[in-house]
Amino acid sequence: MHSLPRRQHLPPGLLTLADHETHAQSRLDAAVWAYFSGGAADEITLHANRQAWDRLSLRPRVLRPLQPLDLSCHLLGKSWPTPLLVAPMACQRLAHPDGERATALAAAALGAGLVLSAQTSTAPEAVAQLALGDAGRGPLWFQLYGLGDRGWMLELVQRVQQAGYEALVLTVDAPVNGVRDRERRAGFTLPPDWLALPGPAAPAGGPGGPGGPVGLQALLSQALSWADVEWLLAHSPLPLLLKGITHPDDARQAASLGVAGLICSNHGGRVLDTLPATVELLPAIVQAVQGACPVLVDGGIRRGTDIVKALALGAQAVLVGRPVLYGLSNAGATGVAHVLRLLLDEFMAALALCGIDRLADLKPSCLWSLNMNEIDSRL
Ligand code: FNR
Ligand code: LAC
Repeated sequence: MHSLPRRQHLPPGLLTLADHETHAQSRLDAAVWAYFSGGAADEITLHANRQAWDRLSLRPRVLRPLQPLDLSCHLLGKSWPTPLLVAPMACQRLAHPDGERATALAAAALGAGLVLSAQTSTAPEAVAQLALGDAGRGPLWFQLYGLGDRGWMLELVQRVQQAGYEALVLTVDAPVNGVRDRERRAGFTLPPDWLALPGPAAPAGGPGGPGGPVGLQALLSQALSWADVEWLLAHSPLPLLLKGITHPDDARQAASLGVAGLICSNHGGRVLDTLPATVELLPAIVQAVQGACPVLVDGGIRRGTDIVKALALGAQAVLVGRPVLYGLSNAGATGVAHVLRLLLDEFMAALALCGIDRLADLKPSCLWSLNMNEIDSRL
C-alpha cells in the first residue's frame, strides 16, 4: 500500500499559470529549473508555441441562451469529464517528493487525464492505483519511447495494461535528445537511479548528450520506424496513439495504419528547434486525418482561451506540460490541482463569453484570424 500524497497549502498570490511559473523558478534548484523550463537550442520553437496562441483572436457571439456548460469530451470510445490531459513528463520527483503520485491524484480529482512518462520516477502501478480510484477521472495513458528490443517493449506494454492503463502513447519525435544548451550550461542530467522502469527508456545521447556522436549512432541504430509502429499496432493489447506528429503526410500514414489518435506536438520545443508552433501545424494535421482518428495538441497551453482555440481548430483535447510541474514544485498535489483548476475555470469562462455551451460547437468560425484568411482568399 502506498501512502497518499501529503496535503500542502498553496503559497499566496498565485492567480495564473504564469504566477506558478515565477514562483517555481524562485524555489527550484537552478539545474532542475533549466531542465523543466528550457527548450532546444535558441528556444525559437519554445517561444513560438506560446506566441502563436496569443496571436489568434477569438470571435465571440453574444446574447445567446446558454445551457449549463458541458465540458465532456469523447476520446477512444468513452466520454470524459474534460478535454484536458497532463502531458507525459519525466522524473517528477525532481519537482516534489510526491512526484507522479501527486500529479495523478490531482489530475483525477479535476477530471483531467494523465499520460505517464516511460521515464517515470514512480512505479506505474502506484500511479494507476491513485488515478483509477477516482470515478470522475480522465483517461489514463502510458507513454513510451521506441528504444529497446521488441521483447522488452511487449513486456512493458503488458505490465502497464495489467496496471490499468487504457492506451499507449508512442513518442516518435525524439529518437535522440535535442541540443539542450540551457540544460548543458546548468549541468543538468536526469538521475538514472530515480527512474522506476527498467530497460532502455530514454534518448540519453545525441549531439549534446553524454554519448556524443558515438551515442548518437547507437541510438539511431535502434530508432523507431513505421515498421515498428505496424508491429506495435499488431501486438499491443492497448490502443496506440503517436505523439510528436507535425507533418500532414506522417499524419495521413499513421491514420491509414489505424492508430487510435495523434498528438500534434513539437515536444514543447525541447527536441528540434525552429519547428513552427503546434497551433500553426494543427489545422493541416486535422485535415490530413479526415476524422479517421482524434487529434490532440500540446505546447504552450497556458490559458483557458488557448484551449478554446485548440478545440475550435479541430483538436479533440489538449495536453498541458510544464505548468503542471510548476504547480507540483509549488505545493505538491494541491499545486497541480490548482493549476488544472485555473485552466478549467478560465476555459469555462471563455466558452461562456464566446456564447458556446458544448465543445461540439467550437468551430474555426469561433476565431477571427482564420476567418479573415478565408475571406482574403475568396477576394
Ligand atoms: C517533457 N515532455 C516529454 N514528452 C514525452 O513524450 N516523454 C517524456 O518523458 C517527456 N518528458 C518531459 C519532461 C519535461 C521536464 C518537459 C517540460 C516535457 C514533453 C511533454 O510531454 C509535452 O510535449 C510538452 O511539455 C508540452 O509543452 P508545454 O505545455 O510544456 O509547453
Ligand atoms: C524531455 C524528454 C524526457 O523532454 O522527453 O526531457
